[in-house]
Amino acid sequence: MKALLAPLFALTIVGCATESSPQQTLVERGRTLASVNCSDCHAVGATGESPAPEAPAFRRLHEKYRVDTLQEALAEGISVGHPAMPQFMFTPADVDAMIAYLQSIQAGPPPVQ
Ligand code: HEC
Repeated sequence: MKALLAPLFALTIVGCATESSPQQTLVERGRTLASVNCSDCHAVGATGESPAPEAPAFRRLHEKYRVDTLQEALAEGISVGHPAMPQFMFTPADVDAMIAYLQSIQAGPPPVQ
């Protein structure tokens, strides 16, 4: 278990450390945005389960969505008709970063149902 948690912890630190760096890449910015805004409920990294069981892990979003089509949803404020999911509004630059990050973590092909 420790071996599993250590990389997760490291990821979190990297996310925070890059928050205000002008050098940060789009993906790093997206990761920071996701961990700040979404990680209370969603698993936002390459591993781990969502803290809220109903919230899909971000690396699995591609099983239900084309991740690049989430752009509009992010820009206009995601509303999934679920009271547990708050509405968010992102700037276009933040949307680009989120999409880049989400695309970077999608895990392999969808599992057989
Ligand atoms: C307070 C908890 C919470 C937070 C914070 C949260 N979500 Fe969610 N999210 C949920 C839940 C619960 C669902 C499942 C909703 C459902 O199935 O109706 C969900 C579903 C989703 C879905 C899938 C929508 C669907 O129709 O299945 C996306 C995409 C999503 N969230 C993106 C995000 C993003 C991006 C953020 C951060 C900006 C975020 N969420 C933050 C709780 C949250």
